[in-house]
Amino acid sequence: MREISLGLCGLGTVGTGVVNILKNHKEEIKYKLGCEIAVKKILVSDIHKQRDVEIDPNWLTTDPDDLVNNEEIDVIIEVMGGIENTNVLLEQALKNKKHIVTANKDLMAVHGQKLLKLAKENNCDIYYDASVAGGIPILRTLSDGLASDRIQKIMGIVNGTTNYILTKMTDEKLDFEVVLKEAQELGFAEADPTSDVEGLDAARKMTILANLAFKMEISLDDVEVSGISNITQEDISFASSLGYTIKLIGIASINNGKVEVTVEPTLLPQDHPLALVKNEYNAVYVYGEAVGETMFYGPGAGSLPTATAIVSDLMEVIKNIRLGISGNAYVSPQYKTQLKENRE
Ligand code: NAP
Ligand code: HSE
Repeated sequence: MREISLGLCGLGTVGTGVVNILKNHKEEIKYKLGCEIAVKKILVSDIHKQRDVEIDPNWLTTDPDDLVNNEEIDVIIEVMGGIENTNVLLEQALKNKKHIVTANKDLMAVHGQKLLKLAKENNCDIYYDASVAGGIPILRTLSDGLASDRIQKIMGIVNGTTNYILTKMTDEKLDFEVVLKEAQELGFAEADPTSDVEGLDAARKMTILANLAFKMEISLDDVEVSGISNITQEDISFASSLGYTIKLIGIASINNGKVEVTVEPTLLPQDHPLALVKNEYNAVYVYGEAVGETMFYGPGAGSLPTATAIVSDLMEVIKNIRLGISGNAYVSPQYKTQLKENRE
């Protein structure tokens, strides 16, 4: 089989992880797929920046057309972030029959439904497991592993930055600002960390999870959100003296066809499994009608964990290309509409 050609949008924390995994796990990936993957172009904003990864300098470009309108490229991995401009770029890519893998929850929470529809119309795949809970394959689990069940509720910690901040404020009594800076340096926080600390990043992820789990079109505006920026050391100490830990918890549930999604700081007994989830780790409970309670735990942010989800999605896309069954996503919009009608 011919090699698969890749365009990578972004070479920051996640993009660097993707290049490293493609290089370091090359043999395993080739063995599993039976073909080679070749990076052709990498879109960045500053071509002269010092990079932490070895690449061919000729790959770098600041012109999106070098990827989107490049006939040679089969799959685009989008790990640069942004909403409106990135949406335009990916729409054009889909129209040009490029398959997409993305880690962009901001984009998927706002334009995901439209992009999934456009992908289907163009017989292209769009996979986005890295957009929720970093290295935990939670979208894949909802879509495949629990496909036969009816999901009733999802609850958990889905933002690594805020969990890192709350952990360090609790265990090491560090100040909010000091720990936020650490989370930024470690590559966990968003370019604008306001979305992390105000709960918006978690709200976007809960929107994506709810859409997939309940097969409904839930909008970000339907989510009740509050973040952790007002939590003080006094709040944490007081909670602790009563035997509680403060965590930013997202909940999405469906009752008689009515969906409720919330993200808010929550007091948990110190021995609750979610209270024991530390640092940038995430954990997600999924309650299914048949399966009952399941829990998924792992690194929710960071270069290699997130890149693992990206490269695994890429491998799924390549398998689909080889089988000639492209046009897939975790759940196609048509299938959703049908399931929604069944529920009503
Ligand atoms: P990052 O470190 O800030 O890297 C962003 C990369 O995109 C940089 O290489 C930057 O170029 C490039 N870029 C940004 N805007 C661009 C533009 N308009 N045109 C061309 N290139 C542009 O970000 P990140 O942490 O890797 O995150 C990337 C995406 O993954 C985001 O959507 C984020 O929400 C998502 N995500 C991140 C994590 C994580 O742990 N970091 C986890 C899950 C999902 P330069 O290098 O030249 O500046
Ligand atoms: N800023 C995000 C977080 C990155 O801290 O969870 C992973 O999506």
